[in-house]
Amino acid sequence: MRGLFIQTYGCQMNSSDSDRMRAILAPLGYESQSQPENADLILINTCSIRDKAEAKLSTFAGDIKGLKIDNPKLKIGVTGCVAQQEKEKIIQENPFVDFVIGPDHIDDLPEILENFENSNFQFVRTDFEQETSRVWKTQTLLTNPGPTAFINVMKGCDHFCTYCVVPYTRGREKSRPIVDIYDDVVRLTDQGVREITFLGQNVNTFGKRAGESLAELFFKVHEIENLKRIRFMTPHPGDLEDSLIECFKELPKLCSQFHLPFQSGSDKILRSMRRFYTKAQYLEKIAAVREARPDVAFSTDIIVGFPGETEEDFEETLDVVRKVRFDNAYSFTFSPRPGTRAAEFKCDLTEGQKTDRLTRLQNELRGIARELHNQEVGKIKEILIECPSKKDPNFWTGRTSQNVPTHFERSLSTARPGDLVKVKIESATLTHLKATPALEN
Ligand code: 5AD
Ligand code: SF4
Repeated sequence: MRGLFIQTYGCQMNSSDSDRMRAILAPLGYESQSQPENADLILINTCSIRDKAEAKLSTFAGDIKGLKIDNPKLKIGVTGCVAQQEKEKIIQENPFVDFVIGPDHIDDLPEILENFENSNFQFVRTDFEQETSRVWKTQTLLTNPGPTAFINVMKGCDHFCTYCVVPYTRGREKSRPIVDIYDDVVRLTDQGVREITFLGQNVNTFGKRAGESLAELFFKVHEIENLKRIRFMTPHPGDLEDSLIECFKELPKLCSQFHLPFQSGSDKILRSMRRFYTKAQYLEKIAAVREARPDVAFSTDIIVGFPGETEEDFEETLDVVRKVRFDNAYSFTFSPRPGTRAAEFKCDLTEGQKTDRLTRLQNELRGIARELHNQEVGKIKEILIECPSKKDPNFWTGRTSQNVPTHFERSLSTARPGDLVKVKIESATLTHLKATPALEN
């Protein structure tokens, strides 16, 4: 047995890549460890979406470099988006790193590690096979699936929003065939998975080239008896078609949660971001989804302080927040990313102005989320039990269809992880709900 420690940064796509690495390495005798000190292989799965995320690589690398003194056999690999972007530079700046591999080379890990048995050369593997020549191994691999799981349905992005690094680190869009994804869902539900989140960087253009669509995928997997809940992320408002909105009417297993990043409420800034929709069009899409499924909870991503953003532009962003009333939101100040168009844009805003806008925005978002959660008190909701609560293991943690974490005391029912149970919401905070089992349990 050999110890494996994976440090994961970034989005769900990266977390699911880490799961895949764990599953690929398990048959080679690598067992996951909770501390890097116990590892013979440390993988740092990096994110470069914003500069703060990127900086985490050097902090963590600094923390672990001394471990090689105690364990000379220890190998350290850097994977993920920073690996793809910085390539050799990572080894130049961190000479104790043994290898750097891009997201397209996760499946090469066994071969890479075997090579190390014979030599100790540091190396970098970050080429992209944009065309179809390289087989993208698609089966979802998980070592110990719980009641919820993620399935990647596509990778890459063709949009080139001017601020975003993803098209450079993850390449062009490529979708998996529905038949392969269907097989994944059957296999995972046979292993006890009840809720699946279908992932893609621009998930609503899934299947475009093959004449398939996300709506078609949802209709197909909806028939699988043991699959109880369907979620997806992240769609682009400009590509949001009626067929996907219809799914909220037709498919009860599709959860009442919609993550739809709007980034900015100003049409001028949206143009400069190359987002291909206006504020009015965004609000129309929201209204259409609400009409199809009135209890849907919206979440979003917002960037403040984009180059050229005036106070009036920022007010437009606040206006969208007030009109939509998001249940949850990820908000960031603009961070210039190497190689992107917006990194060259002239920006007159000071860091102070940017963080001031972010604070105002986040206060607004928090107030609304608190109100929305308070409105849930007294209601009966269905939750899928996931695991014991991390804070207090005497409580179960589950989620409502709207994706709000909900806790209730274990001793009050016989329910188990993977069960869907009705609960009564007793109290609410900004981030979660507290409940008791409803009578029919
Ligand atoms: N600066 C700030 N935020 C960014 N995001 C992506 N790129 C940047 C950037 N350069 C945010 C967007 C996106 C989310 C994943 O991260 O809001 O939707
Ligand atoms: Fe970060 Fe984007 Fe890479 Fe995900 S795909 S890890 S969000 S840079």
